Amino acid sequence: MYRILVMNGPNLNLLGVREPGVYGSETLGDIEDRLRKLAGDHELALSFFQSNHEGALIDRIHEAFGNADGILLNPGALTHYSYALRDALTSVRIPVVEVHLSNIHAREVFRHTSVIAPIAVGQIAGFGSYGYEMGLLALKRHVQTKNA
Ligand code: DQA
Repeated sequence: MYRILVMNGPNLNLLGVREPGVYGSETLGDIEDRLRKLAGDHELALSFFQSNHEGALIDRIHEAFGNADGILLNPGALTHYSYALRDALTSVRIPVVEVHLSNIHAREVFRHTSVIAPIAVGQIAGFGSYGYEMGLLALKRHVQTKNA
């Protein structure tokens, strides 16, 4: 049983309400429900955390040290500039898969940069909420392969 922490950063608590044309009409709760179902079929134990505060996300990453096998992370806008979040992830050495609902590379130029991507196993962007499901399975495969 692998332990996966699913983390969402600023403004993702507003999914469903927030720019549905860009982010879709599902709520974060809907996405988490689907991940729970998927986890049941794949022997994964999930924990969920969303915060609008960089420091709270960093504290949660520190707590995950030794307690999580992988992190599925949508850092929201912190993606584009948070070296502190990136340093927290490298400090705990937990493999991270970065996920975005929208295709950040097809949007405003400031969204084209991810400071997280270079330290992530990989990035999934542009597939809406399905990206979380892909990300979870990709993370499981990565952790399995690493531990084989
Ligand atoms: C996002 C993309 C970010 O640029 C934006 O700030 C978000 C959501 C996405 O899931 O597409 O908050 O991470």
